[in-house]
Amino acid sequence: MNLILLGAPGAGKGTQAEVICNTLHIPAISTGNILREAIKNETALGMEAKSYMDGGKLVPDEIVINILKERLQQDDCQNGFILDGFPRTVPQAEALDQMNIRIDRVIDIEVPDEKITARLSGRRVCESCGASYHTMYKPSKEEGVCDACGGKTVQRKDDHPDTVKERLRVYHEQTEPLIDYYTKTGKLVVVEGQEEVADTTALTLKAVEA
Ligand code: AP5
Repeated sequence: MNLILLGAPGAGKGTQAEVICNTLHIPAISTGNILREAIKNETALGMEAKSYMDGGKLVPDEIVINILKERLQQDDCQNGFILDGFPRTVPQAEALDQMNIRIDRVIDIEVPDEKITARLSGRRVCESCGASYHTMYKPSKEEGVCDACGGKTVQRKDDHPDTVKERLRVYHEQTEPLIDYYTKTGKLVVVEGQEEVADTTALTLKAVEA
């Protein structure tokens, strides 16, 4: 099954992508994670992407489209994949269509902006392995320490309130039009993402199986 997860920053795409990945045994492809890894490794791509990401802007279409094209050619995508954070603009969606890849379902996780700001201010991620926690909803056993690898958990630079505001502005301007784009294909399913994680997970899995 080939899936797309849509939604505002912090709507819970990454959280739900992990659940679907473990349920259907297909890879979750996060363009955000690929870019953060490039920044960590100080590659040319990372250097270019960093200023956009730190400022809450989108990385140029051409760059992310090439990243995705390359990633989808890897063997583990043969039996399906979950796209988390791609497409994010209409030109990216059109580029995906031109790759002649069948998309089975597009799940749009909807959460009001007020909730997003609160959620993202509490998110902590492991510097070493990237595992994600939340100070209230999913705390690590020991504060500041990753349960999975013992690494240090920190706040993402782009989770600071001013940058979150800009990410939401960019989302409404450039990504929200994709809801119309995919409604027209008849493949869009809307999932309420503002309740507990378990509630969103139940709705997401129902949408996948529908
Ligand atoms: P990316 O990493 O994709 O960030 P994002 O879309 O802004 O998404 P987030 O990771 O912030 O949130 P999420 O929806 O995955 O939520 P999560 O599950 O973590 O992209 C980062 C940057 O990279 C972009 O700004 C851009 O610059 C660049 N980029 C990436 N892709 C690009 C593209 N295609 N084109 C151009 N640029 C691109 O949940 C958030 C928190 O809430 C967690 O702490 C979680 O535990 C908690 N939580 C989740 N669900 C619930 C719930 N139901 N109740 C309570 N808490 C919850």
